[in-house]
Amino acid sequence: MRLTILGGGGFRVPLVYRALLADRAKGHVTHVVLHDLDAARMGVIGRVLAEQAVEFPHAPRVTVTTDLDEALTGADFVFSAIRVGGLAGRAADERLALCEGVLGQETVGAGGIAYGLRTVPVAIDIARRVAARAPGAWVINFTNPAGLVTEAMSRYLGDRVIGICDSPVGLGRRVAAALDVDPASAWFDYAGLNHLGWLRAVRVDGRDVLPALLRDDAALASFEEGRLFGGEWLRTIGAVPNEYLHYYYYDRDAVAAARAARQSRGAVVLDQQRDFYARTASSSGSALQAWEATRLRREVTYMAENREAAGAGERASEDLESGGYEKVALALMRAIAQDEHATLILNVRNRDTLAGLDSDAVVEVPCVVDAGGARPVAGDPLPDHALGLVVSVKAVERAVLEAATTGSRAAALRALAIHPLVDSVTVARRLLERYESEFPQLGYLR
Ligand code: G6P
Ligand code: MN
Repeated sequence: MRLTILGGGGFRVPLVYRALLADRAKGHVTHVVLHDLDAARMGVIGRVLAEQAVEFPHAPRVTVTTDLDEALTGADFVFSAIRVGGLAGRAADERLALCEGVLGQETVGAGGIAYGLRTVPVAIDIARRVAARAPGAWVINFTNPAGLVTEAMSRYLGDRVIGICDSPVGLGRRVAAALDVDPASAWFDYAGLNHLGWLRAVRVDGRDVLPALLRDDAALASFEEGRLFGGEWLRTIGAVPNEYLHYYYYDRDAVAAARAARQSRGAVVLDQQRDFYARTASSSGSALQAWEATRLRREVTYMAENREAAGAGERASEDLESGGYEKVALALMRAIAQDEHATLILNVRNRDTLAGLDSDAVVEVPCVVDAGGARPVAGDPLPDHALGLVVSVKAVERAVLEAATTGSRAAALRALAIHPLVDSVTVARRLLERYESEFPQLGYLR
């Protein structure tokens, strides 16, 4: 089976390859095709993969190419994990928003909108080329903003594109540990959009065990989301939100912490990675060791500002082992390829799962997966305040899609101005001007 990875020079590719190496089951991946626009980065990652494969006689073959059509031809699965504008683009998304006093974040608020406006046209081009070159392939989209990008691609690929994120799995894993239940035997009633979801119930043998966790302050203090939001707030809303909801519920605190920081998160990761790629390219030492050290430095500081604003302390050591998005991707790929029934929280078209959104809106909900793809499972309606946020943010995403597909500058302005974390049309206007002068990729807006 052939897996093509777009963004093949990306830093997280070795996580995927490590998971592939561990998979010896029937129908496993035998050939990995890396595609990237930057051959030098891909060369460095290729060296990391070669070192990872040393102890594995049956390691999947790895080939590299900078030609997209060549990469797609013959692919059974395509992982799309690209970053339009690179980490320097991310750092600018974050910095320019913070300059205007609003949240500057990779996927949330103004930064996420700027990133979406750059990424959607590229994602649509990829979707079209997959449809032409590999019409039978399944696309697993990691590219952020993942919900928005998946929805853009679904207009060309239908249900053959599925978006994934590690944060709902991480949340489920941490809540299960706090409850001392086996995550495999629990049903996580989670729903929303990507980076905007809520865990409303955890059912074990049909019984909801979440209320007991919400009453237990000591158990809540034992995991990331419990510390980030605080027991009192979790009891007030009767659910455990995705960690990204910290930017909404504690907007001012998060903005203040980000403004006080010397560098934005994107700038921190950019420095770490510049150093890794440059040093590894020019040294004959172990690329794998350099990668692992850089990975750990990144994980330790993940969401550090939010944790600091909340007084949440250090990350738990089990959370440093990567969020596990490669495990979700592999589980998804296996379920489809081998027709093995699995339940995973994924980004797919709504159908009639979440009331208040139309059937084509991509949502993040539990799905049943088999050879036919991923089918969302309907849960209880979201509480009013959560549904309100979901509908608002979906309207933002739709405005970004309109801007990216028609070139409408008015739609781009609308996306920024109606976002719940952008509090003034004046600010939205200035943000759009700043982003347009920063990014040549936004030259299509008229
Ligand atoms: C989580 C999110 C991803 C996001 C990443 C950022 O894994 O689910 O969507 O890209 O965090 O992490 P970073 O280390 O780049 O700040
Ligand atoms: Mn994510």
